[in-house]
Amino acid sequence: MVKFLLNQSAVVVDQIDPNTTVLDYLREHLYRTGTKEGCASGDCGACTVVIGEVENDNDNDNLVYRSANACITAVGSLHGKQLLTVEDLKQNDQLHPVQQAMVDCHGSQCGFCTPGFIMSMFALRKNNTSADQHKINESLGGNLCRCTGYRPIVDAAEKMFESPQIDQFSPTEESVVTQLNNINRQQPQGSISNANKQFFSPTSSDELADLMLEYPQAKLLAGGTDLCLEFTQFLRDAEVLIYTGRVSDMANITTTEQSLELGAAVTYSQANDCLVDLYPDLKELIERLGSLQVRNQGTIAGNIGNASPIGDMPPVLIALGAELILRKGKETRRVAVEDYFVKYKVTILQTSEFIEKIIIPVPNPGSEFKAYKISKRLEDDISATCGAFNIHIENGITTNIAIAFGGMAEIPKRASHCEKALLNQQWNQQTLELAINEMAKDFTPISDFRASAEYRLSVSQNMLRRLFLETQQDSQPIRITQYA
Ligand SMILES: Cc1cc2nc3c(=O)[nH]c(=O)nc-3n(C[C@H](O)[C@H](O)[C@H](O)COP(=O)(O)OP(=O)(O)OC[C@H]3O[C@@H](n4cnc5c(N)ncnc54)[C@H](O)[C@@H]3O)c2cc1C
Ligand code: FES
Ligand code: FES
Repeated sequence: MVKFLLNQSAVVVDQIDPNTTVLDYLREHLYRTGTKEGCASGDCGACTVVIGEVENDNDNDNLVYRSANACITAVGSLHGKQLLTVEDLKQNDQLHPVQQAMVDCHGSQCGFCTPGFIMSMFALRKNNTSADQHKINESLGGNLCRCTGYRPIVDAAEKMFESPQIDQFSPTEESVVTQLNNINRQQPQGSISNANKQFFSPTSSDELADLMLEYPQAKLLAGGTDLCLEFTQFLRDAEVLIYTGRVSDMANITTTEQSLELGAAVTYSQANDCLVDLYPDLKELIERLGSLQVRNQGTIAGNIGNASPIGDMPPVLIALGAELILRKGKETRRVAVEDYFVKYKVTILQTSEFIEKIIIPVPNPGSEFKAYKISKRLEDDISATCGAFNIHIENGITTNIAIAFGGMAEIPKRASHCEKALLNQQWNQQTLELAINEMAKDFTPISDFRASAEYRLSVSQNMLRRLFLETQQDSQPIRITQYA
């Protein structure tokens, strides 16, 4: 049984196909049709809802609101959470200040995208007392509008900050926290079954490991931002789904002197600050990975587990020398991310094995880390290629270098010829040109709708030139900060 709060009302879900998305559940079971379906693949934001979760910070239980794409969120993942949809915002005859700002700024025409924008703006307002243009753009980057034009919508997002942050939800937050804690305590299971399909929601890694042994055919579901597309785009349902989002010991972020350890259930939004603290160059890359809705749900473990050659985090993790703790039953093994990928969509992961933790080394003093993403759009777009560079230069000599790319081969892969041409050599223009030529030996990229093979190679070679320029003394990082 899955139990969640729809605004203030408890909803129990049982005997339902576990592949059902929150969007389908809202529209087809609850007849809440305010949440729209545009793409059913996480791209347009028309289905944006807000999910409230209890998070403990310094022994205080807080209700944290985050936007999510209902079309790629499995209904079972709502257990012990609060779901807010656009229908919840109006109180009696009074529009919520976010809605009123949209009306005042003429931010809606056909209205199809409007509920999604409103929910993204609502989450932004709940989490911020004020917001700059960058934050507003980031919050709205996952919402598309085909009629209005974005200016009036952005104006509305600015205007909503003129109204008080306290709204009708504020006085009830404490009671919502209590109710959600009660659900999680009293009904820890949160599973669903329907005919021959099952959904499990373990709360510890031991429980998860046992379930993985019991159901070797099971699909692991983390944020679902890749996996749910299997259901919505390819109509390939999973018979057994095991959700990692409630595995408490895999939600931990631990910092030691040597490393940052991320449990496999940690989302991008949760990991963002500590990753950017360690490696500031990841700020832009993470901001450009999917949309805020995708980052609020998606995990780095899912990005690795999906084993896509164009995932953004694998090249980063390879260049950083990150490792994974893989677990099967009680056995664990520690492997380099670099060794995880075998060939297209094939990894070393055995049946019933899963990623438990990601271990990212802290930077070596004097090392520089840079990551560059090339995609057609700045926001919410998959990379044509993504390059990550971890370089140590001492007295003008490259004493250590790791370069890895996504989008250049069937797996995320190191540029070993290129690295060899640079290692222990002068970090100068001459070596650079040699290394750039060597890169052509490392990769034979494909041409597809994202980029031609020639473009992929030449833009990747140019990344090395950019790295060179950015590592010159007194140089400024070359930044693409202008949002389209
Ligand atoms: C609109 C949109 C934009 C996107 N943009 C980007 C982008 O810019 N860059 C990018 O890299 N990706 C992008 N993605 C893809 C996706 O968001 C990422 O790959 C994300 O990291 C997947 O994480 P998840 O938690 O949602 O994984 P899920 O979808 O839950 O799972 C993905 C795969 O990993 C497996 N898995 C999950 N957890 C584990 C585990 N602990 N151990 C082993 N296997 C596991 C699952 O079984 C599944 O096969 C985008 C997706 C969407 C919908
Ligand atoms: S319907 Fe387009 S993001 Fe969900
Ligand atoms: S108002 Fe028509 S799509 Fe945005």
